[in-house]
Amino acid sequence: MTDYLLCKQDEIPEGKGRAFEAGTRTVAVFRSNGKFFAVANKCLHRGASMCDGAIADGGATIRCPWHNWTFDLATGRNMLDPTETIRTYPVRAEDGHLILTA
Ligand code: FES
Repeated sequence: MTDYLLCKQDEIPEGKGRAFEAGTRTVAVFRSNGKFFAVANKCLHRGASMCDGAIADGGATIRCPWHNWTFDLATGRNMLDPTETIRTYPVRAEDGHLILTA
């Protein structure tokens, strides 16, 4: 596991997401209700960029921008088909910066 310094935490506004490279992967990091979440940026359905999705369900989920597949931000579980789970990554704020572990 490697820690990746992503950005200053203020660079992701509340309710928004942003993509980052972390090693060989691209992750989508979101700020929802003051907490940070990270999921694989590539949607399991047809590969849309999850960073362009919309936070939904009171901040608990991320909805894909192409066909609305919706995933739990904390667990990555698809809300309609729990057998489809997008990868999640730990992300934390430290000294005003976001650090992802992958
Ligand atoms: S590409 Fe994400 S729901 Fe189709």
